[in-house]
Amino acid sequence: MPDSTLGVLILAAGKGTRMKSALPKVLFPILDKPMLGYLLKTILEDGFGDVAVLVGHEGERVRDYLRIFPSVEVLWQEEQLGTGHAVQVARPWWGRFRQLLVLNGDLPFLSSDTLKSFVQEHRGAGAGCSLLSFVTERPDGYGRVLRGPEGVFVVEHKDASPEQRLVREVNAGCYVFATEALSRVIGRLKNRNAQGEYYLPDVVALMNTEGLKAHAAVAGEDELLGVNTQAELAEMTRRMRDSLVQGWMAMGVRVMDPSAVWIGPDVKLAPGVCLMPGAQIWGNSVVGENSTVGPCCILRNAVLGREVTLTAHVIVEDSELRDGSKAGPFAYIREGSLLGERAFAGKFVELKKTSVGKGSKVPHLSYMGDAVLGEDVNIGAGSVTCNYDGKNKFPTKIGDRCFVGSDTMMVAPVTLGDDSATAAGSTVTADVPEGALAVGRARQKNIEGWTRARRRR
Ligand code: UD1
Ligand code: CA
Repeated sequence: MPDSTLGVLILAAGKGTRMKSALPKVLFPILDKPMLGYLLKTILEDGFGDVAVLVGHEGERVRDYLRIFPSVEVLWQEEQLGTGHAVQVARPWWGRFRQLLVLNGDLPFLSSDTLKSFVQEHRGAGAGCSLLSFVTERPDGYGRVLRGPEGVFVVEHKDASPEQRLVREVNAGCYVFATEALSRVIGRLKNRNAQGEYYLPDVVALMNTEGLKAHAAVAGEDELLGVNTQAELAEMTRRMRDSLVQGWMAMGVRVMDPSAVWIGPDVKLAPGVCLMPGAQIWGNSVVGENSTVGPCCILRNAVLGREVTLTAHVIVEDSELRDGSKAGPFAYIREGSLLGERAFAGKFVELKKTSVGKGSKVPHLSYMGDAVLGEDVNIGAGSVTCNYDGKNKFPTKIGDRCFVGSDTMMVAPVTLGDDSATAAGSTVTADVPEGALAVGRARQKNIEGWTRARRRR
């Protein structure tokens, strides 16, 4: 149940200067998902309250990404004058709540348990504001959390004295405010500091001067490290990978080398799945029980049934491989293709928008595009559906139990009836009736003694 007294404001308007890239920082992917997506998922799944995301720098791109979260409101900060300014700009939105949770957009690891106990602790402390802090051996770049007799306050790294920089407790960029207290002080932020910005953490010190309590809750570093540089992004990506892979192994997935497989956050694996080094599984892929994803296979939005084997170097995109089917090495299966039960797509085979029926085989060097293959079909090596005339794509239909000879060119649109066959090397331009053999090639002529005659010349 969303807590109607709590608003959640995510700050995502900043550029992320230290990433040295035009892409807004919150859209940088960790594995295959923008870092903002992790935080939003945590917050939306646990119904913390109404959620708004503040966008600004390259805001259209962030807004476009947010379309997959229809309940999230998008607010604009046209000019990015700092995190304090960001909260000022959003005031018309948060005015309606009793409490406001404010989060930096670059906190992909923050868990809902930590957030919940933070909000609880804030309520228990009866404070005007609370911030989440952590203790780290690498505090550079973070605001330092200082606890003086006048209360808690934050000094940004760039404004901190050498002694203050020795402090290892830092501000995580996660705050709860009593909005009534926040309203009283938010207008009083000043930008007289090293960055010429309005700092949100300065609100904490302002609370103290108002006689409103400010509270700092300490949580674990693992969940709170921000992402500010490309190097940190790579480190976070590796951590996220490690945690997902460990999680799947605990569920019974066999991973030969956990440091050599990559699994996206929205992938689902069944127990008994085996992942070999170099396997990458992305998007909404699903892999069924006892299936093997061999070395250097890449899956994106692939659905694999049970006991599917991808031997090595197989790429599957937006396609389904049913129980007991097999592919590879070096197969490319894409754009809504289907490999039926116990079917096989072998060496150097490409399937595009093609369905291969139960028990059918495309073992070597073939391209099947816009085709429907029935059951127990055999496609000879080097066969091709010629589905494209330079302008349009045309379908090929191959009936049950067809035997397509090696090197058959099927010029679409064309249909091979059930139980039909083609002679090796045929170019098939007309439909083949049920049970017939199509021979579409020049008849062979042998010229006796030809070699001897040529050598004599
Ligand atoms: C901020 C905190 C710092 C804390 C650190 C934790 C301030 C002034 N400092 O510093 O104390 O230790 O986070 O990572 O807040 N943003 C806007 N509008 C702006 C500026 C920023 O929406 O005008 C957003 C950014 O997109 C980002 C978040 O606010 O998601 C934090 O900005 P960032 O530049 O990462 O702040 P830090 O300098 O890291
Ligand atoms: Ca930051």
